[in-house]
Amino acid sequence: MRGVAEARPPLTAGGEAEQWERHARWWQEHFTNGADPEYEEQIVPLVVDRMGVLGGSPRPSRVLDLGSGEGQLARALSRLAGIEVTAMDRSRTQLGAAAARGEEPRLLVGDAVAIPAASGAFGGVLACLVLEHVADLGGCLGEVARVLRPGGVFVAVLNHPLVVTPGSGWVDDHMVDPPEQYWQLGPYLNETSTLETVSEGVRITFHHRPLSRYVNAAASLGLLVDHIDEPAPPPGFVAQSPGFSALETLPRMMILRFRRS
Ligand SMILES: C[S@@+](CC[C@H](N)C(=O)[O-])C[C@H]1O[C@@H](n2cnc3c(N)ncnc32)[C@H](O)[C@@H]1O
Repeated sequence: MRGVAEARPPLTAGGEAEQWERHARWWQEHFTNGADPEYEEQIVPLVVDRMGVLGGSPRPSRVLDLGSGEGQLARALSRLAGIEVTAMDRSRTQLGAAAARGEEPRLLVGDAVAIPAASGAFGGVLACLVLEHVADLGGCLGEVARVLRPGGVFVAVLNHPLVVTPGSGWVDDHMVDPPEQYWQLGPYLNETSTLETVSEGVRITFHHRPLSRYVNAAASLGLLVDHIDEPAPPPGFVAQSPGFSALETLPRMMILRFRRS
């Protein structure tokens, strides 16, 4: 989901909203409705499991899918008995597709740093591949903590912050004998905003932060990690790059589950 990184000064929030409006259909075409093996085989089932049942805790009855896109995860969560889901996104094009694709969930236009919902309105919040697109992390986490009731859960799916840093990528070196495949790591500790070319003609801003920034910013707001997943890439994804066996040794995703104290 990430491509060539290009160092740029941070864009304005308005510019970033416009990027997602412009590229919503690209996202829908390539990553939703069964088009992407990572979502089908890994992200959707893991999110449903982590939000629904982990640790024997009761399933939240009201869940907010923050930055829901066209709503694929909100629809999957809606299918769990007893969960009422609200899909919220800043992009009207994404929510238009969500409306066309299902009667559930409820749809809400809103910004992750000013969620239009009452304090304590939700028992669960999900943000799947969204936080790395939000410039104001503290503002967003503050809103998540506000709309979560005490004891509620926040599930955040991230491009793995340590592995998928800007400037990282596979090197397939045939100049050495024997040839080597290895993952080149970018400057992990530098907090950077980069405009990345994720596909031809599709440029999206990513805000990179070390893992400690996410965990410590959340903890300062009473959101404490109670589970982490670092799954190996699923078979359908690995099959897209035959011969690249090293692919299976690094997690592309990290799923953090926080509980509101
Ligand atoms: C990579 S897509 C992920 C969509 C969905 N969560 C999924 O996993 O299918 C990121 C989404 O976040 C939304 N987004 C980015 N920044 C946002 C913000 N500040 N407030 C609300 N939505 C935002 C974009 O419009 C886009 O739909």
